[in-house]
Amino acid sequence: MTSTTSSTSSKRAPKGPRRAAAPAVGLVGVGRLGSYVLHRLRRRGVAVQARRGDLAALARTRLVYLCVPEDRLRGLAVELAQAWAGGARPRVVLHAAGHLGADVLAPLATLGIATGVLHPMRAFSHRAAGQHVRAVQNCWTCAGAAEARRHARRLVRVLEPRAQVWERSDDARSRRLYHAGCVLANNGGLALHQLAARLLVRGGLAPRAADQGAAALLNSAVFRGARQAVIPGEVQLRGPLARGQHDVVEQHLRALRGDALTAQAYRSLSLVLLELARQGRKLDAGTLARFQRLLR
Ligand SMILES: NC(=O)c1ccc[n+]([C@@H]2O[C@H](COP(=O)([O-])OP(=O)(O)OC[C@H]3O[C@@H](n4cnc5c(N)ncnc54)[C@H](OP(=O)(O)O)[C@@H]3O)[C@@H](O)[C@H]2O)c1
Repeated sequence: MTSTTSSTSSKRAPKGPRRAAAPAVGLVGVGRLGSYVLHRLRRRGVAVQARRGDLAALARTRLVYLCVPEDRLRGLAVELAQAWAGGARPRVVLHAAGHLGADVLAPLATLGIATGVLHPMRAFSHRAAGQHVRAVQNCWTCAGAAEARRHARRLVRVLEPRAQVWERSDDARSRRLYHAGCVLANNGGLALHQLAARLLVRGGLAPRAADQGAAALLNSAVFRGARQAVIPGEVQLRGPLARGQHDVVEQHLRALRGDALTAQAYRSLSLVLLELARQGRKLDAGTLARFQRLLR
């Protein structure tokens, strides 16, 4: 059984005997996300109770953040509710799973604990515990009871003072759409980076250069995107689509023959951009129709 405890206190010695202050935050699950949260809270001087199995100690914290895999949440909520039923309990319990709602913590809500979700909109790895990529502003979302959302915001202010926290709906349909969007941006970005980098290698770049070049292009595309409102007509076309160069697109598609997966991605993503450009009247009808015929 793993156990991690962290508690940070002032360096000044206490004047007289008194009870140790209760840790401000309880953390359950010190994996990819949990280790990042623990690291950040320690750096900010926040006392954390993260000892696995010590449910009584967790009960004395004000806020508990559950960073365990989704399939453990329901059982964990029951276990915590049973342990805390007759005595001390935290005011707020949050979990971190983007596709589950606050309702998975219902056994805790029946004890009067404010329950909610605090979901980081990015992927964590064990290696990134101490250093995190900040190419664009970090974002978190929160949902659930008002008090839970208030504490979620406070926790993020401590973890990452410059990050944004957005509130979102907690009904099942909204949650699925929200989570699908997160997965598309994250996995889709990864897939696109891989496909593009492989093409760059085939085009003669060294793997390291291809990797960095594809990442730089994606990064600049995202920076452009992040500065535009999410309104279909606002998309800014670049490259051959913007310049109406049908011959260039035709040459690309010819070069991609024999690489069905990459060709499919090239076609689908170009058609998405053309559709957005059509809605925003960024291309004349003739140019648009010719591109669409080429790409379908
Ligand atoms: N990682 C991300 O990029 C990311 C991003 C957004 C949201 N999230 C959400 O964050 C949550 C955690 O994800 P993760 O990727 O950090 O998972 P993870 O790396 O697998 O870590 C989960 C940790 O929880 C521990 N654990 C499991 N059951 C426990 C229990 N009953 N009591 C105490 N500890 C327990 C595991 O320990 P053992 O291995 O010893 O069981 C492990 O250390 C998930 O809900 C996920 O959806 C993750």
